Amino acid sequence: MIETNITKMFGIKHPIFSAPMGPFFTRDLALAVCEADGLGVLSNVNIAGTSPVKEHKASLEYMIEHTDKPFGLNILTSRNNPGVRQMVRLLPRIVMSNVKMRDQCTYWLTSAGSSRVLAESKSFVELRENSEVKHFHVAPAVWLAQKCVNSKVDGIVVTGTEGGGHQSYERVSTLVLLQQINEKFPDLPKIACGGFATGESLAAALSLGAGAVAMGSRFIASKQSEFHEKYKALIPPGNPQDTGLYTGSFGPIRLYKNEYALSHPAPSSKEEMIAYENSLSPEQRAKDMGAYDRVYNGDIDTGAVLLGQSIGIIDSIDDVNDIIERIMKKAESVIRKNNSMLK
Ligand SMILES: Cc1cc2nc3c(=O)[nH]c(=O)nc-3n(C[C@H](O)[C@H](O)[C@H](O)COP(=O)(O)O)c2cc1C
Repeated sequence: MIETNITKMFGIKHPIFSAPMGPFFTRDLALAVCEADGLGVLSNVNIAGTSPVKEHKASLEYMIEHTDKPFGLNILTSRNNPGVRQMVRLLPRIVMSNVKMRDQCTYWLTSAGSSRVLAESKSFVELRENSEVKHFHVAPAVWLAQKCVNSKVDGIVVTGTEGGGHQSYERVSTLVLLQQINEKFPDLPKIACGGFATGESLAAALSLGAGAVAMGSRFIASKQSEFHEKYKALIPPGNPQDTGLYTGSFGPIRLYKNEYALSHPAPSSKEEMIAYENSLSPEQRAKDMGAYDRVYNGDIDTGAVLLGQSIGIIDSIDDVNDIIERIMKKAESVIRKNNSMLK
């Protein structure tokens, strides 16, 4: 067993989290990760005109019905995210009003916007004061980690540029970012994210000051994930260079290089991104809006296929339990081997 500040904070056996993967559903995946003694995270779902509050409520109810283990949820706090205000106001109330939900939904992860939005919500402040709930925020750059600290988060998710999905303009690798952030904030609880898929990489993350890893692409390629079979099938033959950074709704985004991705530029600054967005015709905008619904329904050519470079080290679609067991076994043996180097 590996015990860390993060496993102790959440009362979990293994330092492995599933990364949030909105706008797609990750209910069954989150449940499988929890049941395998990691910590599963519900994504901020808003595909096909769904209401994010309604979807989160349904997912929360599903989780407490099927597991007694702790789990988490994600809220994208960008102003561009529909329903963000309602989520930060209503979700803490929903959780507060149900003792089982309050005791289990202890990991509140915000991302792709300000860490203050949830931290300053009155209902979340009340929930935080009356429960064991922890607030983490995704920090893809050192200056963002500083902002998270200013918002008094309980910890951060350090996500480097190799990760799938939303990214920062800085494009710093997880390896370098972890070292930078660890040096600046040695005592801040950290979850490493972006590029993790093996036991060796978990051992490396722990050496670099993280208390756990969060994985997205590795878990998409699992039997329990709700992703379309065609989406999953891209992963085992995939290489790191099959992904790249392009424009997304909240800044740069790492996508699989398909027709959709290749028709979008890769902005290197906020100004470039805004200029690109302003240049879009209403038809292009509407087409882009549908990119998630399309891929959800299996269109892996003109849909947005979010994946990380870690696809280059994932060879098969596996059971979540086997993935976690294999990673833990390997991480333990690597740590033991490294320890034996000490003379
Ligand atoms: C399909 C997909 C959707 C994602 N959606 C979100 C999201 O809604 N919120 C978020 O904070 N990160 C999102 N991300 C980023 C992941 O949480 C995580 O940072 C990333 O998957 C880590 O890299 P990995 O894929 O190499 O594990 C998404 C990633 C993927 C692959």
